[in-house]
Amino acid sequence: GAESPLPSGEHDFVVVANRLPVDITVAHDGSLTWERSPGGLVTALAPIMRQNAGAWVGWSGTAGFEHEPFDGEGMRLWPVPLSEREVADYYEGFSNGTLWPLYHDVIVPPEYHRTWWNAYVSVNRRFAAAAAEAVAPGGTVWVHDYQLQLVPSVLRLLRPDVKIGFFNHIPFPPVEIFGQLPWRRQVVEGLLGADLVGFQRPGDAANFLRSVRRLTDLQVRGPQVTIPGRWSRPDRQVRAQAFPISIDAAAFDELARTPEVLARAQEIRTELGSPEVLLLGVDRLDYTKGIQHRLKAFGELLEDGQLHAPESCMVQVASPSRERVEQYRMLRDEVEGTVGRINGEFGALGRAAVHYMHHSYPMEEMAALYRAADVMLVTSLRDGMNLVAKEYIAARSDLGGALVLSEFTGAADELGQALMINPHDIDGTKATIMRAVTMEPKEGRRRMRNLRKRVIEHDVRRWADDFLGYLAMTAPHQETP
Ligand code: F6P
Repeated sequence: GAESPLPSGEHDFVVVANRLPVDITVAHDGSLTWERSPGGLVTALAPIMRQNAGAWVGWSGTAGFEHEPFDGEGMRLWPVPLSEREVADYYEGFSNGTLWPLYHDVIVPPEYHRTWWNAYVSVNRRFAAAAAEAVAPGGTVWVHDYQLQLVPSVLRLLRPDVKIGFFNHIPFPPVEIFGQLPWRRQVVEGLLGADLVGFQRPGDAANFLRSVRRLTDLQVRGPQVTIPGRWSRPDRQVRAQAFPISIDAAAFDELARTPEVLARAQEIRTELGSPEVLLLGVDRLDYTKGIQHRLKAFGELLEDGQLHAPESCMVQVASPSRERVEQYRMLRDEVEGTVGRINGEFGALGRAAVHYMHHSYPMEEMAALYRAADVMLVTSLRDGMNLVAKEYIAARSDLGGALVLSEFTGAADELGQALMINPHDIDGTKATIMRAVTMEPKEGRRRMRNLRKRVIEHDVRRWADDFLGYLAMTAPHQETP
């Protein structure tokens, strides 16, 4: 044909995410070493990457880091550089100061700054350009999460020959909230560059489709949006649907059965002074997780004398997160103040009521904590999925333990046998914690058996296969590069 060929790369399958799936260290001589970062996504995608000459496009996590694509973890790792300014404006600013609170029910007020938006646009273009360079003719690109919502439409302009999937790991808000965003239309149009837009819950997909109806003139029928073809191009269909993400349940189950983990679980209880009741919270230190609500409920149970410390105690693991964002600093001060007050009031010498850890731990230690805990508390005010709930279940092959779960998590859609709470209802939460503490072992085992069936059958591999299966079924594009 008369058209000049589009540039194209050599990877049939390309993942685009804000972060690369490795932690990179640069030695003095400039050489790189890396370690695979923990996380279900890379575990699920690694085999697909190996079979399809895959590439992963993402930021290293360090401002100013620039490097040619290199091979590691059975894939091509393709770093996208971000300057200090871009980290502040695109990542800490627009992604985590605007979109994150907006998409989580405006728990804290989102900030709208044009400089942040401009950085978001230019960084999204850079990710799209990298994906366009990496992907082979007719290949597949899977874009992840709220940091990269403009990548699908930019990539489609650059490479109309490829299939584009997008998955949103966090909630998608109702249009009444989403509508606050000054650039709401650009974001919707950005996502509609994809062939398939995946969400955690059916409710998130429905919210997105309502936004499409309200903010564009496009036709929406069921889960499909029709984008009219221009010039000689045919119409294009975009599908929006729920694909609830999961964990590598079998691997977690296996880890939590090892003698080392079981011994460590025993040791944890001994170190805590062999409490009668051990409550556990595990979160990134984020205001969406309802850590304050959980501490308030526990503090009141001690105050009322329904629970007694130190016979009952709580372990709260709060892994450091987004520490340069103002709202996260404020939250840390509040949580640490509350923990101090509870311990000051109810702790004893050498026996805290709340054991608070501002660290992250390896998977082995997490599995041991899950095995040690009698009650797992997941109290999110809003949460896309909450994989901690699923990890707890996968770890409990002994059918012990009880899960208290906020109805505002994506996980609540699937885990009906958990003890549900509205974390804003402190009395209700207290009553449900007491129900978990006093539950008959028989009922606990029945519930846990049921929960485990769901989590083990619907693991992260099945999630990826489902999403990619649907994406493969979308109509092939006409253009070839
Ligand atoms: O799922 C939400 C998410 O923002 C992911 O995109 C991210 O990998 C994770 O939480 C941790 O956040 P961050 O990358 O900002 O440290």
